[in-house]
Amino acid sequence: MIATYLKKNWWKYALGVLFLIAVDLLQLIPPRLTGRLVDLLKSSEADENTLLIFILGVLAAAGGMMLSRFWWRFFIIGTAHRFSHYARLTLFEKLLSLTQDFYDRTLTGDLMARFTNDINAVRMMLGPAVVMATDAVVLTVITVAAMGGFVSWRLTVLASIPLPFLALISLTFGKMIHHRFRKVQEGFSEITHGAEESVSGIRVIKTFAVEDKMEERYSEVSLNYFKAQMSLIKVWGLFFPLIGMIGTSASLIALIIGGRMVIYDQITLGEFVTFNQYLGMLVWPMMAVGWVLNIIQRSRASYKRLMEILETKPSIQEPKNPVNVTIKGNIEVKNLDFAYPNTKRPVLKNINMKIEAGSFVGIAGKTGSGKSTIVKLLLKLYPVERGRIFFEGVDINDISSEHLRKYVTYVPQEAFLFSTTVKENIAFPVDKIEENEVKLYAQVAAVHDDIVELPQGYRTVVGERGVTLSGGQKQRITLARGLVKRSPVIILDDSLSAVDAQTEEAIINHLRESVAESTLIVVSHRLKVLSRADIIYVFDDGEIVEAGRHTELIERDGLYRRMYELQMLEERFEEDAGTD
Ligand SMILES: Nc1ncnc2c1ncn2[C@@H]1O[C@H](COP(=O)(O)OP(=O)(O)O)[C@@H](O)[C@H]1O
Ligand SMILES: [Mg+2]
Repeated sequence: MIATYLKKNWWKYALGVLFLIAVDLLQLIPPRLTGRLVDLLKSSEADENTLLIFILGVLAAAGGMMLSRFWWRFFIIGTAHRFSHYARLTLFEKLLSLTQDFYDRTLTGDLMARFTNDINAVRMMLGPAVVMATDAVVLTVITVAAMGGFVSWRLTVLASIPLPFLALISLTFGKMIHHRFRKVQEGFSEITHGAEESVSGIRVIKTFAVEDKMEERYSEVSLNYFKAQMSLIKVWGLFFPLIGMIGTSASLIALIIGGRMVIYDQITLGEFVTFNQYLGMLVWPMMAVGWVLNIIQRSRASYKRLMEILETKPSIQEPKNPVNVTIKGNIEVKNLDFAYPNTKRPVLKNINMKIEAGSFVGIAGKTGSGKSTIVKLLLKLYPVERGRIFFEGVDINDISSEHLRKYVTYVPQEAFLFSTTVKENIAFPVDKIEENEVKLYAQVAAVHDDIVELPQGYRTVVGERGVTLSGGQKQRITLARGLVKRSPVIILDDSLSAVDAQTEEAIINHLRESVAESTLIVVSHRLKVLSRADIIYVFDDGEIVEAGRHTELIERDGLYRRMYELQMLEERFEEDAGTD
């Protein structure tokens, strides 16, 4: 990824480095001029005009430096930030292309860290590290050359003896500082998270009367943060004095030996002044060596983590010659066995289903029996063998995911709303939609009445940053969103579990009439909802144990009937409890 980026942008770095070198060279001028001036002043050869000329010289150098500094920052740091932008987009595009099994095994927090910390670490290498490395090399070479060439090589060598320690100290301290800084960041996110959770969970805390326990826990988190800060302060506190001390010891050598050289007329007073200023300029590039090594080490690890994602192959291969079949809803499943890619444990065993276009299919079974798995496979969320699932007689492996999902709508049990208005949430799958159409689907999903009671009706912002909706309201809005697609196959995967039984039944019956031409596949744990289905498949431990109409299944003495009787019993209990 870096290589592709540099291929296009190397010239920006070249320009930036040129400006950086210009700054370094210009930096040499003022000390040299000051030294010359001191000598002229001392020998009384200078008048006010000479002074003016020198001042103009220093000003010109300063002006040149100002401009060059602007441009190297613009080119080097700017190009590095552009890389972050490029990396974020590349990563995001990749994430959109990855398949379900990748998300099954990846933690959201880990992904977020790659988007933020890791991209940032790589940017540090492409920006600040380039500057520091250039400075470290160029500034060191030319300053040392100027010190030796303009003043004295012997003095240069002797006064430089302590300087390599600067690199060593910045290297070791850089590591410590980074490590402790991480701890501070972690501590910070813990205190914000802790406070946020307590505030949002305050009702639970109050009802359980656990204020003391929460206070104790929070005080521990806060104390940890404080300790992390203190340990960082200590390292910083040591770092700067150490650097200062090494700088001072170099100056001391220069003072003692250089002073003697002035006394014995080996160098002039002006050269002595120049030398000391140059020596001060060497402190930064020496420290830079240490920082650069640290940055490179860290960003290499980050870069590896980024590439890991970029090199992940989606487990579903799109067909080379996709068949663009018009899907009406004739679906067939033949002897299908299935295990999730990351577990290998068989979850579906010998599944056979025959679904006709326009029919109403029910799927029933206990939790964990494989109901969601089979419908996810119909959506091609996980890879399936050839010869197992067919749409209109075409193997699912020959249909591209994009094409398939144009025709098949899936409404999951976990409703998810984006942080935007209700209207936009419902209209999400399509580019353009009329207001009254949105309302129409909201009515089919029996959520229109709820929506108009919200503070701003359809313009109310919901989701994480908006008003809080009940689980059932969220599910019904999610259902309306699915209906907007008007696809020939609609799959509801227990999508109304948080809605009460009567409403669910009413919604499904109404739905059946309003999208009569669509194939409707409904997974529900409430069997009454399925009573009008053309066929119900009963799943048990990954197998279809029964299939038939509701009335047929009730007559048989099987799993379906037992589940149904249990539900009737529960319903009666609830009614009794209600009349008390
Ligand atoms: N992403 C997954 N990776 C591995 N195993 C899974 C995954 N999703 C579900 N399972 C397992 O597959 C089985 C069937 O699950 P599922 O189809 O969700 O059941 P149901 O929808 O009937 O409750 C369960 O044992 C479950 O633990
Ligand atoms: Mg399920």
